Amino acid sequence: MRHDVQVRLIEEMLGRLDAGTNIDEGGIRRNPISAYTDPDLAKQEWETFFRHHPQIIGLSGDLPEPGSYFTVSDFGVPVIASRLQDGSFVAMVNACRHRGALVVDEERGTARRFTCPFHNWTYDSGGDLVGLPKRDHFGEIDTSCHGLIRLPAVEQHGLLVVHPDPDGVIDVDALLTTEFAEELASWKLDELVVADRDDYDVACNWKLANDTFGETYHFPALHQNTINLGFHGNVSCYETFGRNHRFLLCRRSIDEMRLLPKEQWNIAVATLPAYYLFPNVQLLPTVDGCFFIRIYPQAGNPGRHTSRITFFLRKGVTESSEGAEARAEQEKTLAQLFASIIRDEDYVMGASQQTTANSGAMSEVIYGRNERPLHHYHNTFRTALGMEPLPLVTN
Ligand code: FES
Ligand SMILES: [Fe+2]
Repeated sequence: MRHDVQVRLIEEMLGRLDAGTNIDEGGIRRNPISAYTDPDLAKQEWETFFRHHPQIIGLSGDLPEPGSYFTVSDFGVPVIASRLQDGSFVAMVNACRHRGALVVDEERGTARRFTCPFHNWTYDSGGDLVGLPKRDHFGEIDTSCHGLIRLPAVEQHGLLVVHPDPDGVIDVDALLTTEFAEELASWKLDELVVADRDDYDVACNWKLANDTFGETYHFPALHQNTINLGFHGNVSCYETFGRNHRFLLCRRSIDEMRLLPKEQWNIAVATLPAYYLFPNVQLLPTVDGCFFIRIYPQAGNPGRHTSRITFFLRKGVTESSEGAEARAEQEKTLAQLFASIIRDEDYVMGASQQTTANSGAMSEVIYGRNERPLHHYHNTFRTALGMEPLPLVTN
């Protein structure tokens, strides 16, 4: 992030802290609780935001070297993401061209070849069919046009993006807006390495999981003995960039930073930026790394979702300089703590909200004036599906 923007945002945050104010939408919005339970809506969301929408499936560090690969199947199409020997990123449908079996079962690894377990058809790391047993028995096929089905794949600003439709188009700057993309790039996401991962399968709608990253009103209550010790709740900064946003959580270390000359101000010390990348990614950069969270609905079940959390570290933190190992360990412990808070505190609330939603006992939920990100992305979801935006109630 440009330093002048960092200073502007830190000043904005300090102004709110001193005045005891917060971001303000200027009114409340009421959302029908069916947003979290309606199977038809869930189906529309699945088709529009997942099955037929570009997907951010990882950061460059998920494919650290030529031959690295990983598989994903969270948005309806099984995908192999792979880095070729020339360093480029490609994606293919993880389905054998013989009779459709899953070619790669492992979540990740390094390989020069992918061999289908059913009859051993073999593909190279770019998906070209390079071998099939008993060719003389099998019959004539043109191997050059029976490689794994390639999917559009783009690596930009350190993000790995695929389109589940072979004919789909990926325009990263259009998805993110140029300004937002440039700001993301300034965090040098392409230089991060994977330190740890965690996956949570939770009995709550995918939007409830997203909601938990959209306000700090809950810090002094739900996170009284955890996050609240390191963060000021009820104060934040917020800006939208098209369908995406930047939401700043206020670290208590801002109290010491304000005493330093402005040239030494650092947004990652004063705050924890939470970038929301439409429709389902939360990216939270820190001084030493980044939390990267992908949130997926469970197809056909509006009451369940999966969150996939990857914790990345900057290369310098993990290299063998003096104290680096201890620092990396410390960062990893903090990341595990952060992930466990999401699991044991935030998502526990998500599941209890879902129980209420499923019961039909309540007809709507309310987003307060201080919960601006919730207003923005719920209306963004609705608009993208051709629904009327929720009206702002100002009195
Ligand atoms: S289905 Fe893969 S080799 Fe037959
Ligand atoms: Fe939380």
